[in-house]
Amino acid sequence: MPDAVLRHGDNELTLPSHVGTEGETAIDIGNLRSSLGLVTVDRGFANTAEGTSSVTYINGEEGILRYRGYPIDQLAEHASFLEVSYLLQYGDLPANDELAAYEEEITRHTLLREDVKHLFEAFPHSAHPMQILASATSALATYYPDALDPLDEEAVDISARRLIAKTPTMIAWSYKYRVHQPYVYPDNDLDYASNFLKMMFAVPAEDFIANPVVTRTLNMLLILHADHGQNCSSSAVRLVGSGQANIFSSVAAGIHALSGPLHGGANQSVLEMLTRIVESGDTIDTVIKRAKDKDDPFRLMGFGHRVYKNFDPRAQILKKAAEDVLKALGVDDPLLDLAMELEDIALSDEYFVERKLYPNVDFYSGIIYRAMGFSTDMFTVLFAMGRLPGWIAQWRELSSDPDTKIFRPRQLYTGPAERPFIARDDR
Ligand code: ACO
Repeated sequence: MPDAVLRHGDNELTLPSHVGTEGETAIDIGNLRSSLGLVTVDRGFANTAEGTSSVTYINGEEGILRYRGYPIDQLAEHASFLEVSYLLQYGDLPANDELAAYEEEITRHTLLREDVKHLFEAFPHSAHPMQILASATSALATYYPDALDPLDEEAVDISARRLIAKTPTMIAWSYKYRVHQPYVYPDNDLDYASNFLKMMFAVPAEDFIANPVVTRTLNMLLILHADHGQNCSSSAVRLVGSGQANIFSSVAAGIHALSGPLHGGANQSVLEMLTRIVESGDTIDTVIKRAKDKDDPFRLMGFGHRVYKNFDPRAQILKKAAEDVLKALGVDDPLLDLAMELEDIALSDEYFVERKLYPNVDFYSGIIYRAMGFSTDMFTVLFAMGRLPGWIAQWRELSSDPDTKIFRPRQLYTGPAERPFIARDDR
């Protein structure tokens, strides 16, 4: 691949090219400032790769998503979430005995220290689950001070297992506290998804067996969310990790980043939007008109993606899953009908077509979570539970790379030039 040549005034600089596995080319501007005194401006990092990554490949034009080379649809259909978690972190699918050992180790860490309960109880009952999860994840670091060194592979391994094992317990317990029900302890005879459903929905007075359709679908949803390259929350995890903060603090930063409505919080916003439309009696035309109006801040939530400009492969899988799950559970949800109608109309509307705005993963996930019995404000923590192995894989990749540098972007200063201090009485 030829190098690039940058001309600026009378100066010229050769910028080396790097080519990725799939033929993508990147121009390396690492010497730009030291050679020419220039920096680049790239809003939202739309064209900037901080470094290299071998975890996930995305081709937004063709709607391709692969974890470590494996197509997302094949993983969603055939793998278990813990299998995918192993794949993302260690690079290859586990052999039978490796998977059994990994599952066993995760199982052994599902309990929380009893004192952690007090943490949930310190929050108001109305606290948003994402806020609680981020705080509890951060607090976990204080219980395991001898396993926090980001450069100690063994410590990282055990902390990563603790995170994967304890996150479902933390999510379920924060929910139980909120709904004034007793905490349900993990059941280590169950698989990851069934155990989580039991901790969420069981009560001591009754037996609980998770519906296999719900378990299967939750497993699939977690896999679909497990990684997505250098998205906002994974970049937050990497950024915090680049300062050698411990894995719990770094993941807590990722949870905060995911909570925003332009990122993971969109699944909650989609449901709220659909509910508002039904309740207000607005027509779909009115909704589409508002989404297109530049003076109206309203956006069609669940539509559009920075990377996917043709279709989001995860949304395609979820659209079918939503129909199947609702049918299997006998749920007749007017919100699903509305979502399908909205999708049809938006997909044929010039505004959406021109801007390549398609349904994203969040458009259908909320409808499925709702059918499974989750309350709307739990949707984003479910996304976080799925994204966890990806955050960990991204953090581990960065921490173990000898070429990693602390993230420290440049800026183009546009504030006032130097001016003398004015005494308080003279202003
Ligand atoms: N509704 C209406 N118009 C939209 C939407 C939308 N959902 N999304 C983008 N647009 C328009 C913008 O107004 C802009 O129009 P313009 O060119 O006339 O100014 C154009 O499409 C490009 O939009 P940007 O915001 O520049 O695109 P960007 O790549 O920065 O943003 C994002 C992507 C944040 C996902 C955006 O599409 C959005 O806000 N979608 C709704 C929120 C959402 O569903 N987020 C979940 C993303 S998936 C995930 O995080 C798991």
